[in-house]
Amino acid sequence: MKINTPFTRIVTKIARLTLAKRVDLPHTLAFLYNNSFKKLSNLINIELEKRLKRITLKSKPYIMFLEVNNICNLHCPFCMTGKGVYGGREKRHMTIDDVKGVIDQTWEHLYFIQLYNWGEPMLNKDIFEIIRYAKSKNIFTMASSNMTALDEGKIDRLIDSGLDYLKVAVDGVSKESYSLYRVGADFDKVMENFKTLMRRRKEKGSRFPIVEWQFVVFKHNEDEVDEAQKIADELGVDYFNPIPAYIEDAKWIPKNEKYKATLYDPESVRKCRRLWSHINVRCDGGIAPCCYEFFKKDDFGNIFKRPFAELWNNDIFKYSRELCMHPDKVTKERKMDTICYNCIIYEKRPSLNVEDILKQEEKEEKPGG
Ligand SMILES: C[S@@+](CC[C@H](N)C(=O)[O-])C[C@H]1O[C@@H](n2cnc3c(N)ncnc32)[C@H](O)[C@@H]1O
Ligand code: SF4
Ligand code: SF4
Repeated sequence: MKINTPFTRIVTKIARLTLAKRVDLPHTLAFLYNNSFKKLSNLINIELEKRLKRITLKSKPYIMFLEVNNICNLHCPFCMTGKGVYGGREKRHMTIDDVKGVIDQTWEHLYFIQLYNWGEPMLNKDIFEIIRYAKSKNIFTMASSNMTALDEGKIDRLIDSGLDYLKVAVDGVSKESYSLYRVGADFDKVMENFKTLMRRRKEKGSRFPIVEWQFVVFKHNEDEVDEAQKIADELGVDYFNPIPAYIEDAKWIPKNEKYKATLYDPESVRKCRRLWSHINVRCDGGIAPCCYEFFKKDDFGNIFKRPFAELWNNDIFKYSRELCMHPDKVTKERKMDTICYNCIIYEKRPSLNVEDILKQEEKEEKPGG
């Protein structure tokens, strides 16, 4: 992993020293860039309420995942959207009015907004306006893109929108290996767009978006990581980040131990903070505390139908927090179905039970079947 600009080098160094390497670069930047007295006092309050084991909260989430669509043009084999699986949701793009409705209720406490979940954000025709709106509310914006749906004009609009951080998802340096996972993408076009992004950012004299090359490592592309790092340096990429892949088929697992994924860390599951700090808004307004939630039936409510103030301390949020704080006490009488149950009691990430998801999807497609 490499940080190129002096700016990100300093930031990461400080963060690494202070947080003993437990740092997420975009989150740290959001804290440094997009702070306010209100956000900081809310953040302190979150910590306090968590320590006091409160389940009805005065504090509000400071991180939002906003799924601007659940639609994609590619067919990555281990991605739900790539497989055409939607968890009972309609396929849709959020409109700018949907987004304004959500942000207007939550912006004051938000440091950070991730503008994707299960879908390709650059396919949303309102994406540049969405970014602008979030920026106008002093929120750090991050997107991840497969880079297929762009051209020079759109790249210019993306830079001009003020997007803070972009993950460019390219997993290979040759057409052959890249195309094995990013099924349906044109490698040459993707690399051309990548180069155009770096060139136009430089020509515009802009430091933003900070660009991360995110390289998902599989067996077929692990030998290309070093070459990708070199190309990243040549292109002027800020941060080259080879990450372990989530894999459903053992044949795809890389040999190198450092790229093998640990699906969950039981300790971190038990210490889940997300129920206090995060809100995940799906493209149809469904909400959940984290991005592991997939099925519509598991939503904690719907922000298009009820105000956020009524949702944040509703019964399912409170019960899930209680479960997180007192797993033993709550399991004796399981009162409510929550996706957090598997996670906290069985230490299993809900959305990783892919077979269950596919079975459920089949059932929904064939009612009565
Ligand atoms: C579902 S994608 C949505 C955003 C966008 N379509 C993209 O691919 O960048 C969210 C993130 O998951 C990453 N991803 C896709 N397949 C993965 C896998 N098998 N393991 C780990 N991360 C993966 C993508 O690179 C992306 O950063
Ligand atoms: S490009 Fe992103 S959203 Fe599309 S199929 Fe691949 S991982 Fe999923
Ligand atoms: S599903 Fe797991 S990670 Fe998500 S909020 Fe619940 S306990 Fe936390």
